Amino acid sequence: MNKTPTPHIAAAYGEIASTVLMPGDPLRAKFVAETFLEDARLVSSVRGILAYTGTYKGKRLSVMASGMGIPSIGIYSYELYNFYDVENIIRIGTAGAITEKVDLRDIIIGIGASTNSDFASQYGMKGSFSATASWELLSAAATAASESNTKVRVGGLVSVDNFYDDNFDNTLAWARLGVLGVEMEAAGLYCTAARAGKRALAICSVSDNLLTGARLTVEERQSSLVEMITLGLDTAVKVEN
Ligand code: HPA
Repeated sequence: MNKTPTPHIAAAYGEIASTVLMPGDPLRAKFVAETFLEDARLVSSVRGILAYTGTYKGKRLSVMASGMGIPSIGIYSYELYNFYDVENIIRIGTAGAITEKVDLRDIIIGIGASTNSDFASQYGMKGSFSATASWELLSAAATAASESNTKVRVGGLVSVDNFYDDNFDNTLAWARLGVLGVEMEAAGLYCTAARAGKRALAICSVSDNLLTGARLTVEERQSSLVEMITLGLDTAVKVEN
């Protein structure tokens, strides 16, 4: 039985492309649709989570916001994979650097996403699951980056439940394990994709450094977002038939 529309997405079945770019912010989804897609059409706006479908370089793509945090991206990615038959979700977000080795504006491609969330315990495995990116999307992103001369760092992200952490040592402990950046969604997306047998990737632009307190200006943020969005779109084109 077809389960669309869902409780959280108003689009009819077939109105969402098989590859979805997913920023956290609904207004960023609108910006991507209006700036980069041709013939973009709004297909859902439940709770202000805007979703658009259009074409980019001749390929049909969707862009839909995730909201903030693992519970939010967990809901939208679950419904997209399991009810709309979406195959690929590419998160395009921001991350905070937790090591001096990572500069503001760097683009981190998350090969894996550690987390302090209990999200994966629902699967009932005895142990901890390694939430990892899809190799097909990761290699497509690496190829797209080298073709466009975009510098990227492929490494670990940590998806935290708390933006405001009472104990900064918790963050530093991830850095000691080589994690490059902190954000709030990739692990939920990677788990949901794994359980559905689908593909996911998180591409994050570094907006701030938690060690130094440095942050991008509004203009710098916009230009580095455009670089990341373009990489996300070019990755999508490589995997979309
Ligand atoms: N914490 C969590 N998520 C983030 C941060 C941060 O400092 N910066 C960008 N996304």
